Amino acid sequence: MIYLDNAATTFTKPRQVYEAVVDAMVKNGVNAGRGGYDAAVRANELLFETKERLAALFHIENPERIAFAYNTTHALNMGIKGVLSYGDHVIITSMEHNSVLRPVKECELHKRISYTVLRANDKGEIDMNSLEKAIRPNTKLICMTHSSNVCGTMMDIYKAAEIAHKHNILFMVDAAQSAGAIDIDGSKLDLFAFPGHKGLMGPMGTGGLYVREGLTLQTIIEGGTGSLSESVYQPEMMPDRLESGTLNVPAIVGLGQAAKFLLDTGVETVRRQEEALCSYFEERVRAMPGVTVYGSSNKTAICAINIEGADCVEVAQMLNDNYDIAVRAGLHCAILAHKTLGTEKTGCVRFSFGYFNTISEVDKAVNAVYEISKEL
Ligand SMILES: Cc1ncc(COP(=O)(O)O)c(C=O)c1O
Repeated sequence: MIYLDNAATTFTKPRQVYEAVVDAMVKNGVNAGRGGYDAAVRANELLFETKERLAALFHIENPERIAFAYNTTHALNMGIKGVLSYGDHVIITSMEHNSVLRPVKECELHKRISYTVLRANDKGEIDMNSLEKAIRPNTKLICMTHSSNVCGTMMDIYKAAEIAHKHNILFMVDAAQSAGAIDIDGSKLDLFAFPGHKGLMGPMGTGGLYVREGLTLQTIIEGGTGSLSESVYQPEMMPDRLESGTLNVPAIVGLGQAAKFLLDTGVETVRRQEEALCSYFEERVRAMPGVTVYGSSNKTAICAINIEGADCVEVAQMLNDNYDIAVRAGLHCAILAHKTLGTEKTGCVRFSFGYFNTISEVDKAVNAVYEISKEL
């Protein structure tokens, strides 16, 4: 299989990730931080090692400010619902994934919050002047994706953070498409949600939420934390506040090895490789008659296209059936983004490139698009 669906999850991981998962299951498959016996203490140390590496990757001083989550969606829910209270206002963008939009809609229903959607242009770019204009006296949170999962367009999150902080508003980033793929300076953000299984190249079922020092969130789940068992209330301290229940030790240890791989290789090296593969593909398909490419040039390694007159789902099926190429077609859980790009009726075909893809794979994908565009 030629796997070009890395924006959904990375399929090929660094070899040491697979080994670490198996090794941890065999040697460290005990409940971390619950017992005082050696194996439980060691498992806990391994979890902390993963956090130390993640903190180093994201330029965060205190690894304890990261809470593990099952995926980005879980982390986004913890952040959004943890911050918003009755009557608050939140600003999001029209490029958000449903994992931001739906928790916000849920808060609208159950907490009577209000929200503003900043409209991006047809390349998915946000004018930061519109952000300042959307701020209201009760704006509590600005939440935006770092990079669109549909077309890859990147947002100027540091400019947005500056505006938010000027107005004493919390700023949160959905780093689903950027964590591991772009250098993120977490120290400039209040909150960010990240997956372990996409650009970080760790196992599925991993992710996390960074919460800056001094910020205590309302919880969406409470329970055993292995700490303060004498209290009937959820602890206030991080990460216990957000980490109830047994953690997935083997997967998190695998994520730790993935983070080590990225620290050793350098996120910038990974970014250059992915960008090179994506640009190579994009230059060639852009030149084909009838092919439209969406999004801006400032982007992560995603190339979203349509072939004139062809149904995107049919194209993806042909890529699968005739060329063994895996891509994702349709609306990508991001209807607002598709409306912004003008593809809400058609959807599009998304090719997303990863560090372990090769030029020869990309050449085969280019050839496949060419042949399909001639055939349909
Ligand atoms: C921008 C964005 N946000 C959120 C998510 C949800 O991520 P997860 O599958 O890790 O819950 C995705 C997944 O593709 C995404 O691309």
